[in-house]
Amino acid sequence: MELKPGFSAFVTGGASGIGRALSLALAGKGVFVTVVDLSEEKGNEVAALVEKENAKFHSNLGFPSAMFIRCDVTNTRDTSAAFEKHVATYGGLDICINSAGISNPIPFHEDQTDGTRSWRFTVDVNLVAVIDCTQKAIGIMQAAKKPGVIINMGSSAGLYPFYTDPIYSASKGGVVLFTRSLTPYKSKGIRINVLCPEFVETELALKAGSKLIDLALYLWIR
Ligand SMILES: NC(=O)c1ccc[n+]([C@@H]2O[C@H](COP(=O)([O-])OP(=O)(O)OC[C@H]3O[C@@H](n4cnc5c(N)ncnc54)[C@H](O)[C@@H]3O)[C@@H](O)[C@H]2O)c1
Repeated sequence: MELKPGFSAFVTGGASGIGRALSLALAGKGVFVTVVDLSEEKGNEVAALVEKENAKFHSNLGFPSAMFIRCDVTNTRDTSAAFEKHVATYGGLDICINSAGISNPIPFHEDQTDGTRSWRFTVDVNLVAVIDCTQKAIGIMQAAKKPGVIINMGSSAGLYPFYTDPIYSASKGGVVLFTRSLTPYKSKGIRINVLCPEFVETELALKAGSKLIDLALYLWIR
């Protein structure tokens, strides 16, 4: 799909890191962006930057060229409302990027809890919400009978074992094979891809900590 001014994108995790960078890159092509994230301050900042960039392509639109919607991607009612607002504002959906993601907050081997606030939640954010948002985006794109692109954020940890965070690895492995299994949608004009970056210096990577990263690299190299 050749990016054109006036296309619209829905970006989860768009307030920070990779999602932020992709939102700004799309704005540089005149694409309208809905930033969906938990972080109100950063989300509004990205929306303002996108609007500024978009002003080079559009004038007197009568609607904002970027919106921030505060939303927890694990809340399916809230993500439905966010998609609805996006479509009502931009008249469709050309691109959906599912970038919201977290590392597992409690190391698996130390976790004595039932996982509600740790591994179950990590799987909910990194995998279940990605499935949910992908399904919603497909529904909107199919109803519009227009081509669309969906990009899910996997990880190299979804391709190889990540010994220091097996739950993260499991969730990303799920995203990889879920997304690859959707290849047949290409024949219907919907291209769905998964990105699998190695380490990118973002808040998520810094939270994981340099020790964890060094250990993982050591184990990979060994
Ligand atoms: N940084 C890396 O090294 C790296 C490597 C491979 C894959 N990834 C993946 O890339 C994606 C983006 O990560 P990043 O490095 O940019 O991290 P980041 O922490 O900078 O950005 C993630 C964003 O997701 C948001 N988010 C988290 N949970 C959410 C929720 N429940 N609902 C809504 N928003 C939520 C956060 O508020 C944040 O703005 C993630 O899926 C991550 O797993 C990152």
